[in-house]
Amino acid sequence: MTNVNSTDDVDDELNFREQEEQMEKYGFYWMPVPRDKLIECPQHGWMPTYGMKCRACLHEREKQEQELKAHNEYIRRWNERKDYADIPPRFEKCELSTYQATLPKQIATLNFAQKFVAGFDTIYKGRCFIFSGQIGTGKTHLAIAIANALMRKEGFYVKYTTVSTMIRRVRATWRSDSEVSESEVLNRYAQPMLLILDEVGIQSGSDNELSILFEILNWRYMHRKSTIFITNLTRDKYISFLGARVIDRLREDGGEEIVFDWESFRPILGRQAKEAANHEQDLSNEVGSQIVVDN
Ligand SMILES: Nc1ncnc2c1ncn2[C@@H]1O[C@H](COP(=O)(O)OP(=O)(O)O)[C@@H](O)[C@H]1O
Ligand SMILES: [Mg+2]
Ligand SMILES: [Zn+2]
Repeated sequence: MTNVNSTDDVDDELNFREQEEQMEKYGFYWMPVPRDKLIECPQHGWMPTYGMKCRACLHEREKQEQELKAHNEYIRRWNERKDYADIPPRFEKCELSTYQATLPKQIATLNFAQKFVAGFDTIYKGRCFIFSGQIGTGKTHLAIAIANALMRKEGFYVKYTTVSTMIRRVRATWRSDSEVSESEVLNRYAQPMLLILDEVGIQSGSDNELSILFEILNWRYMHRKSTIFITNLTRDKYISFLGARVIDRLREDGGEEIVFDWESFRPILGRQAKEAANHEQDLSNEVGSQIVVDN
């Protein structure tokens, strides 16, 4: 096949097969053009021109620019969701894939998390969960892993906060020099599709704190938005902290408690870090001896 389609040697009849080939190869096809409108491109052979330049080259560049633009736009939207989520740097890298599950209960908990992500917008819509258990059992890790997985789905806004940070931020708007209004800040916690509310019940809530909490949770309940509550308290204690009004709403929406009743992961992390350091030391010893051998 030749790319030279000039009026001299091509019939009026369109060569559809050739057009299809062109389309597949270059992403566009061209009608027969006079010879003086053709250029011999080192990359594409004989090609029609546009503004004295090879049209295939121009087309390729345009495609690259579009791809770059789409990529930048994706990054921009991702950063927007990420800023909004407010995940502390320490937990940023928490993923379902790095959640180690060995005990049957841990495996079941991880399975639940995967199902929650998959059905977040459908079967789990508006469902709330309470992650309870001793410190170090991976409650925050798993909740943030869920948030990270959801954030990767376009358009899913999630937010992480501790109860005390949320209340402090709302209260800060009451100062006369506050740059944001109270309703703006309330909205930030009310709107996201998933809110992770960590450290529930760490301080005994004053009436004033509880009414801020209730206002946000009630709005979320009305609009069927999911919340994951994280607490080190036992059931009796977090029920008395959150109060009957909140608990009632949770129950109505099929809220469940997931108890993390296994040992803290922190000693395991310490052991794994030590092993990793030893392994690295072994590797560098190996490298060291190799260099000696090479000499
Ligand atoms: N099952 C697990 N797999 C991997 N890392 C874990 C696991 N459980 C906990 N961790 C890690 O242990 C540390 C403590 O976990 P964290 O989620 O803060 O516990 P909690 O919120 O229950 O107090 C974190 O660094 C977390 O990433
Ligand atoms: Mg935690
Ligand atoms: Zn070209």
